Amino acid sequence: SGRSGAKILGAPFIFDETSNLSSSILGLVGRNLYEQPDHPISITRKLIESCFEEPTFKHFAMNNPVVTVTDNFDTLGFPKDHPGRSRTDTYYVNSTHLLRTHTSAHEHNAFSWLAQNTSSKGYTICADVYRRDSIDRSHFPVFHQMEGARVWPPQENRAAVIQRDCNDMPQTNLLVEDQATDFSTDANPLQPEHNPEEVHLVARHLKLSLEQVIQRIFQASQASLPSTARSDAPMQARWIEAYFPFTSPSFELEVDWNGEWLELLGCGVTKQSILEKAGLTNHIGWAWGVGIERFAMLLFGIPDIRLFWSTDPRFLKQFTRGKITKFEPFSKYPACYKDIAFWINATPSGSSLVGASSTSGVAAAAGGDATKASPTETQPAAFHENDIMEVVRDVAGSLVEDVKLVDEFVHPTSGRKSLCYRINYRSLERTLTNDEVNGLHDEVGKRMEGLFGVELR
Ligand code: PHE
Repeated sequence: SGRSGAKILGAPFIFDETSNLSSSILGLVGRNLYEQPDHPISITRKLIESCFEEPTFKHFAMNNPVVTVTDNFDTLGFPKDHPGRSRTDTYYVNSTHLLRTHTSAHEHNAFSWLAQNTSSKGYTICADVYRRDSIDRSHFPVFHQMEGARVWPPQENRAAVIQRDCNDMPQTNLLVEDQATDFSTDANPLQPEHNPEEVHLVARHLKLSLEQVIQRIFQASQASLPSTARSDAPMQARWIEAYFPFTSPSFELEVDWNGEWLELLGCGVTKQSILEKAGLTNHIGWAWGVGIERFAMLLFGIPDIRLFWSTDPRFLKQFTRGKITKFEPFSKYPACYKDIAFWINATPSGSSLVGASSTSGVAAAAGGDATKASPTETQPAAFHENDIMEVVRDVAGSLVEDVKLVDEFVHPTSGRKSLCYRINYRSLERTLTNDEVNGLHDEVGKRMEGLFGVELR
């Protein structure tokens, strides 16, 4: 019938006009780095899990990244026009399924599990998540998240119970400033069905729980340094207000890392509608989500996010389960910078939801002709920055360290816009040859012309 598709972890999917997967992305599905005990992603996962003890918490890992649009967005209350839903930001398998963009896609199922298994009061989830994004040393289209949640069932004197659970939490020696304690503002309100005293206690318990995680990470990181390099200054952290469609009030935790505030995680008091839908009637509770790579890069001193995907023994042999050790860089191979400059034709459509994205991936995954992938898109799509990122990733995979916009101007008479991106080709494992880089760079140019109708300069 001419319809293209792909098998993902053995299950067949048929593509449609929403699909924007690439073969390079599909090639990364199923690596399950968080299940390789000596891998830094798994070591970090275990360290975080150790802060949430069984049987109060049940620890899940979710190997299949294909979820429904409903689970990833709708059930969690994402508005229809939320930018996270856009095809420029999210990998769609087709109009009903996508590669999860966060572990929260499993909240409904995990809460439903809790409703059936009342000996547990909470859970953590670990999984690979997927986002179309810029290319640099701290962004990769696949990364890992952990999510945690805790609930308290309805009971007499529940506030006293939550208070007692707060009191049971061990002391930390972090210097924490809490800038998010006012839940009466429109920006970060408590939910109308909640008792304010309980919400303040749940928020307190949430913040104390995550401060334990930070403390443990910080201690492990310090212990891995030679004694002369250790610092006895306490770690500084601060809580700020945040927004997520599925929690209210919501918070972010930032830590002072070499004099800069670094955002580490998001969290909040779970929306009551989500608990009710999962059968946790009249429960109250919290949830958080963290990126594992961010912690792992700090813990192990890993400078480039692509290293996590390395199969090079010089990387993998450095790490052992249960141990935090500092990464010893192996020789850095030379960088090769190439510029690509082009005129863009179409003016961006404004709505990132329609038409702004490439069909390259669909065709590449199906082994077909990129320009014929989707019969509905005869016109080249308007250019979005994530599209060049996706083209570069699909052509060169992890042979690219970063892609930066270095020049941008509008022609004074024609009004046409020109962009110049600098691509830094560099392998972590070997020296790239000139011919090889030229071949990759030419292919990037060809695809940009074919898919977005840009005119190379
Ligand atoms: N899923 C959110 C993210 O990816 C993090 C989060 C999880 C926030 C749970 C609140 C509660 O950014």
